[in-house]
Amino acid sequence: MDFPYKIYTLGDEKYLDGKVGWRCPSNIAIVKYWGKYGIQMPRNASFSFTLSNAHTDTYITYSKQPNGKVSLDFMFEGKENQAFADKITKFLHSISEYIPIVKDFHFKIESSNSFPHSSGIASSASSMGALALCICSIEAELFGISHDEELRQKASYLARLGSGSASRSLMPYFSTWGEHPKINGSSNLYATRTEGLHSIFQTFHDDILIVSAKEKSVSSTAGHALMENNVYAPARYAQANQRVEDLLEIMKTDNVDAFGKIAEDEAMTLHALMMCSDPSYILIEPGTLQMIKEIRSFRDRTKLPIYFTLDAGPNIHLLYPASVKGDAEILINDYLLPFTENNVVIKDKISNGPKRLL
Ligand code: DP6
Repeated sequence: MDFPYKIYTLGDEKYLDGKVGWRCPSNIAIVKYWGKYGIQMPRNASFSFTLSNAHTDTYITYSKQPNGKVSLDFMFEGKENQAFADKITKFLHSISEYIPIVKDFHFKIESSNSFPHSSGIASSASSMGALALCICSIEAELFGISHDEELRQKASYLARLGSGSASRSLMPYFSTWGEHPKINGSSNLYATRTEGLHSIFQTFHDDILIVSAKEKSVSSTAGHALMENNVYAPARYAQANQRVEDLLEIMKTDNVDAFGKIAEDEAMTLHALMMCSDPSYILIEPGTLQMIKEIRSFRDRTKLPIYFTLDAGPNIHLLYPASVKGDAEILINDYLLPFTENNVVIKDKISNGPKRLL
């Protein structure tokens, strides 16, 4: 077992109950995790910004029960949701050898997202992050554990088991996940906070321009699996590790242009890998390409440091420092909105990570 934390088991206390709550934001990868092995281990190191406005709020009311089985009710935005409940039941089973108390309690889980469910924004990172934090807080309350940093890291470990990219949502500002020979403390098991970067990057915005809010035609999990037979996979993993190393050096300075070049190269590489997988699939839409062209030509004309990235979908994430916010608004309103679906733009920015609600 590769669980690097103490395992806590309850005695036969008769009755224990309580309620905890966490808000966990989503994150946007600058160097992408794409390819995994074993139990949710990444094939390469990845690096991300923790966001702010796109978040999940989760509350868990817990009460002791004698069955020794996972037992829960799940409400999403005030309504029962069986599909999510099944996913969470599976997740709690998968962590029960590490966190045995998940079988000692009945959990009433209430969750909601700050962004519309069908906005095309993936919610697995924020929802798994919030759930993992709640479970760790319940354990901390029951056993009187008070190590905040350890709680964050343990929650990152657990969130990873639910969704790989969720491991990074737990960290303030900048996060790295995946073992890297040049990064002290880096691990495949959990993400770590990346510090010592130039302050300009803490001012970064990420405006998400919705090209299509439709469900993805291929899940991330299926996408990762296709990397196993992709002829470019070994070169890709080496490239990603090199890019993380280069990026961390670049980000010690205020060289936003060098940062932006890597961010865009990563977005293009991710989608190129999807297109040349077998079977091949395309997740970008014509509007995505139109926006990329507009962003590049605006940048050529103005020389302003406004860049984009993409996750595993068609929506554009516009990345820029606060100093050019007004210019980014012009770019969005005058050039990009026509290619969005119903003019939907979700304005987000980098943040210091999750907040305890209760
Ligand atoms: C393209 O974390 O969604 O967003 O571990 O199977 O849940 P699972 O995959 P997931 O993959 C995210 C892929 C990505 C890149 C990234 O966030 O690094």
